[in-house]
Amino acid sequence: MDSSAADPFARFEEWMAEAAKSEPNDPNAVCLATSTPDGRPSARMVLLKGIDPRGFVFYTNLESRKGGELAANPEAALCFHWKTLQRSVRVEGRV
Ligand SMILES: Cc1cc2nc3c(=O)[nH]c(=O)nc-3n(C[C@H](O)[C@H](O)[C@H](O)COP(=O)(O)O)c2cc1C
Repeated sequence: MDSSAADPFARFEEWMAEAAKSEPNDPNAVCLATSTPDGRPSARMVLLKGIDPRGFVFYTNLESRKGGELAANPEAALCFHWKTLQRSVRVEGRV
């Protein structure tokens, strides 16, 4: 097993670097899913702005629908899809 296989963050950074070379547009585009406290989901695209030990970073307007949903229910999911690489990555957790 190579070292990044044991560390999903390291593997993600490798794959993102490959996507930055191969994707014609927005390799950092990611679908962000949120939901209301009573479990109604919604999803939209955002741009990943970074990754650090705290997690995956995106910017948005706190007054937006996603901002309101995350304030009320700080659980979210991300789904990256890199078509040229035929790869996707799913991320779930607390915001
Ligand atoms: C490729 C792409 C990247 C986007 N990046 C962002 C982003 O980084 N932050 C953001 O708030 N909205 C971004 N948007 C717009 C959102 O998809 C969405 O339409 C908007 O933020 C309102 O979402 P909401 O009403 O669910 O809060 C992006 C849209 C596209 C198509």
